[in-house]
Amino acid sequence: MSYKSSTIKSKWKKTKWLNEDAYFRQYVPHTLPFSKNNLNTMLASYSTVFFKPTDGSGGRNIVRIRKTDGGYTSQLNTTKTSYSSSSQLYRDLNRFAGSRPYLLQKGIRLAKSNGKPFDIRVMVQKTREGAWVSTALFTKVGNPNKVATNYNQGGSIGTFKNTMSGANFGSAFTQQLESELKRLGVAVGRNFDRHYKGFKELGLDVAVDSKGRPWILEVNTRPQVYPLKTLKDKSLYHKVLSYGRQYGRTK
Ligand SMILES: Nc1ncnc2c1ncn2[C@@H]1O[C@H](COP(=O)(O)OP(=O)(O)O)[C@@H](O)[C@H]1O
Ligand SMILES: [Mg+2]
Repeated sequence: MSYKSSTIKSKWKKTKWLNEDAYFRQYVPHTLPFSKNNLNTMLASYSTVFFKPTDGSGGRNIVRIRKTDGGYTSQLNTTKTSYSSSSQLYRDLNRFAGSRPYLLQKGIRLAKSNGKPFDIRVMVQKTREGAWVSTALFTKVGNPNKVATNYNQGGSIGTFKNTMSGANFGSAFTQQLESELKRLGVAVGRNFDRHYKGFKELGLDVAVDSKGRPWILEVNTRPQVYPLKTLKDKSLYHKVLSYGRQYGRTK
């Protein structure tokens, strides 16, 4: 795309930026670079661990690892593989990663809306005056057979209110979470500005666990907006584009 806004691909770099600050740290699931030691550390602490390419996007090449009675199960897209030991699992993950860096992240049990896992996109954009504004909140409702909710992985786009009510969260809670996430989005914008010049927009991927607690899974510096067009109500799409026009985003 031709519009101007800085891009940082490395999820590890961005996670470290957030973890420097106690306010953000409470939202960041435990994350470590992939190594044999770190794999064992994560497996000792969590029943589900995500294995994600550090420079990845679009939900591609993400593996979900789950502990089972006899060992571990990995899932890539819809394909599951069983392992009886962590060293066997490590060998396979290492082969899969090849020379690409990977991260390990505590798995969040995503809340489900009408039986489907979802997470939230918080779209944050800068005004001409340089102030960050959380312009849109929407949801990505995933295919229950997949490990990523991304639109490119067969996820669909929902409104925040409908998805939250489909997950049986009450309207008071939903409103409170909306303001919390909008505040968080603005704060992340300011944090990113302190580390690197030229950001005009950011997209936070926020998971809500079954208890309603929000977790930042990643911060996108090149967030996609076109999936918003699939909503019947186009007002959010137009709102994001009208903010985007100020830095040359046209779609
Ligand atoms: N730690 C996690 N716990 C639960 N689900 C996760 C976790 N990390 C990623 N996912 C799922 O995978 C999707 C893609 O992960 P993400 O970190 O956003 O990478 P990408 O850059 O590929 O979008 C998320 O939207 C979520 O559905
Ligand atoms: Mg994402």
